[in-house]
Amino acid sequence: MSYPARRMRRLRRTPALRRLVAESRLGVDDLVAPLFVREDITEPQPIATLPGVVQHTRESLRKEVAELVALGIPGVILFGVPGHKDAQGSGAWADDGIMQMALRDVRDEVGDDVVIMADLCLDEYTDHGHCGILRSDGTVDNDATVARYAQVAVAQARAGAAVVAPSGMMDGQVSAIRSALDDAGHQDVAILAYAAKYASALYGPFRDAVGVTIGDGGDRKGYQQDPRNIRESLAEVALDVAEGADMVMVKPALAYLDVIAELRASFDVPVAAYQVSGEYAMVKAAGAQGMIDAEAVALEHLGAIKRAGADIILTYFAREVAETL
Ligand code: PBG
Repeated sequence: MSYPARRMRRLRRTPALRRLVAESRLGVDDLVAPLFVREDITEPQPIATLPGVVQHTRESLRKEVAELVALGIPGVILFGVPGHKDAQGSGAWADDGIMQMALRDVRDEVGDDVVIMADLCLDEYTDHGHCGILRSDGTVDNDATVARYAQVAVAQARAGAAVVAPSGMMDGQVSAIRSALDDAGHQDVAILAYAAKYASALYGPFRDAVGVTIGDGGDRKGYQQDPRNIRESLAEVALDVAEGADMVMVKPALAYLDVIAELRASFDVPVAAYQVSGEYAMVKAAGAQGMIDAEAVALEHLGAIKRAGADIILTYFAREVAETL
């Protein structure tokens, strides 16, 4: 009886051996926690489709961020839920809009101990739920929207954002935001571009979290990417990097590991991956039904995202994972 010379099982024998030869490692330093802050509430509100995640009050947000800092989490990304929405989404750039108030609170609480990121979009603030300004035919006007994004970026930077993260998938958004930030004296504010953002069915719970319903049964397929495409992601990222993106993002994560790997290999900027609300909710729901071990599956998914090449992972599991790692 002969055996192959190399016995693969030798290095799998003990936890210490496995740890020593692991090819990738998920750590607290990889994590960014997405956080929702809502105007006009006095108590944190649970989100039915996103178990364990809440809409924060300004006060509870401060406390949560301080706790995440204590756990060693290096980044948070804020989403504002305004009390009032309109056609333009004017709450997005108002100096007393919920995002700007929350940014000032968080900066006051933790300063630069955590990287304070602001999601930069209009959908949370528009009454029609689209990520931009609508033309009379109901389509999103790219250039009018980009001009608004530039205004939002400056408001967010002024309020204390260290990173702005445009998530609307408008053409030219990164260069417009970069110029506006520079002109306003915010050369140090970085841009994390949601560069390869797909028109995914996995954003449902997030839309509950921010109270967004897209009008007329509409969708975002006219501006977000087609899930069938990967070359298009390379083109999107090339444009965003040329326009001045400091970091780029793939979103969602688990169904797009090939995109993460391809972008990691093709570009030299940090690549972030967003494990989105639907990915989180599926694991939580199956765990609650006793179908899977949710904690183990969460770590497996996050580990796979890391292995594929993500340098930064945005995840609703951030706190839980930081507590267990
Ligand atoms: C747009 C935005 C969305 C998400 C992040 N930014 C929703 C969308 O494009 O419809 C989704 C995040 C998630 O599902 O966790 N502002």
